Amino acid sequence: MKKFASALTAAALTIGAANTSSAGQVEVLHWWTSGGEAASINVLKDLMKKEGHTWKDFAVAGGAGESAMTVLKSRAISGNPPAGAQIKGPTIQEWGDLGFLTNLDDVAKAGQWDQVLPTVVSDTMKHDGHYVAAPVNVHRVNWMWSNPEIFRKAGATIPTSWKQFLVEAEKIKAAGFTPLAHGGQAWQDATLFEAIALEKGANFYNSAFVDLSDKTLRSEDMIDVFRTFRAVRDYVDAGFSGRDWNIATSMVINGEAAMQIMGDWAKGEFTAANKRAGVDYLCSPAPGTHDTYTFNIDSIAMFKIKNKDNQAAQKDLARLILEPEFQETFNLNKGSIPARLNMPRDKFDSCAHSSMDAFVATSAANTLLPSMAHGMSTPAMAQGAIYDVVTNFFNSPSMTPEKAVDVLARAVKSSL
Ligand code: GAL
Repeated sequence: MKKFASALTAAALTIGAANTSSAGQVEVLHWWTSGGEAASINVLKDLMKKEGHTWKDFAVAGGAGESAMTVLKSRAISGNPPAGAQIKGPTIQEWGDLGFLTNLDDVAKAGQWDQVLPTVVSDTMKHDGHYVAAPVNVHRVNWMWSNPEIFRKAGATIPTSWKQFLVEAEKIKAAGFTPLAHGGQAWQDATLFEAIALEKGANFYNSAFVDLSDKTLRSEDMIDVFRTFRAVRDYVDAGFSGRDWNIATSMVINGEAAMQIMGDWAKGEFTAANKRAGVDYLCSPAPGTHDTYTFNIDSIAMFKIKNKDNQAAQKDLARLILEPEFQETFNLNKGSIPARLNMPRDKFDSCAHSSMDAFVATSAANTLLPSMAHGMSTPAMAQGAIYDVVTNFFNSPSMTPEKAVDVLARAVKSSL
């Protein structure tokens, strides 16, 4: 890691200044390639084109961006980072520490970002007190998406606890459907695991995934979380391994599977398939997590680049991201809610309204929590350690929950 960091720092120093003229080009790295995701990023491409700039798309497929981050590191090491990259949470701090990110304070001041953003969002966008990234949205991660037709046919009801989930899943299985649509990729396993852990409450969650407390990672409650995780595993279909998240969502859309535990980017897929919230599909908080909200803020961090025109285009990009027009249209497609406060709500559906209300309520109750699975709660190394243990356990029927917590606590400790 140290070697990698010094290679990056050396590369950062070679990125200097500038030449002149007007329309510029922005190269933007992202991993938004599913139907709903692509429709969302197209909104930004079109707005930049309207400003007269050229958009150079740098899409690296792969849910949750694991592959995108690997590609970004190699581009940065070679001294040629893109103008903007989708980087989130504590990872913004890591890139800022290495000296790669550019200062956006002038754009932020003109657009009054300090006033229009909730503090939990603006804090994440700053490095050393200076804006270096622009937030596009807030995703709620602890959602369950379900197919009401399957529930009807199976005589099942939407579960509000993980214990009840197991009961309803059994009915759905008996009726010949796959209870849980899931893709066996480390980040999806972590998304499911995080939702199960969340039922233990905000204190437990913070202690485990923010403070990384050894005691909590080894606790009876954590053993119980692994136990439930194992039990839920019985309700995914045989073909889950390696499946992309949006393919899992399509199983719910097509009436093959009853439920999916996934952040509200899944809603982008329902929207792209012309399905209506509350009619064709239902959204409800993941079982037992009604009073909590795991958040995932997507943002474009801006890198230091050489060309003056491209620098100007980069500032336009940052400005446009915060403007109400983008915040509304992007989020209608993406399934998330605007990062910007006081936006009109009328075009958003009932799931988005419920997310907006829960964001405010949980923020007041201190149960608004950063998603571990989506890189908001820990530095990348600790997140990677948790991913490894969780996914290993999911795929190793002989590993006991007691053993899993021991491996988890050790893996987290050695990542710090
Ligand atoms: C998340 C990201 C979302 C969505 C999802 C699946 O980490 O924040 O915007 O794209 O991955 O790719």
